[in-house]
Amino acid sequence: MRHVVARVEDVPPGTMTRVEAAGRAFCLVNLGGRFHALVDRCPHAGAPLSAGRLSGVVESDGPGDYRLCRQGEMVKCPWHGWEFEVATGQSWCDPRRMRARHRPAERVAGRELVRGPHVAERVPVSVEGDYVVIDL
Ligand code: FES
Repeated sequence: MRHVVARVEDVPPGTMTRVEAAGRAFCLVNLGGRFHALVDRCPHAGAPLSAGRLSGVVESDGPGDYRLCRQGEMVKCPWHGWEFEVATGQSWCDPRRMRARHRPAERVAGRELVRGPHVAERVPVSVEGDYVVIDL
């Protein structure tokens, strides 16, 4: 069943908002003019993702060298800071694995290192005229 959840003009590019459809809450994100919707419940402990903030990805080629990329493509949970990729729902952080321990060191691609174990649930979104529609 399709639900009109917002007017396009009310969610400008680079912003997100909480919307409701069929008694459920969703985190609606306008990523560069393309809309995405995540169930508004963090898979870690249930925080509303729409109360978090949009962020990017820090990339580095070595110590002391870093840059912020893909700005707005990640949503950061307001409770514990886990980050989820807006387009896929994939988590890119698992704080339970971030305790300091002695480990053997090896060189791996950054994405292998930070991919988290959780995926935020996504729902299909479309734009019809001036309205954003979620299909449940
Ligand atoms: S509830 Fe979202 S990171 Fe903990």
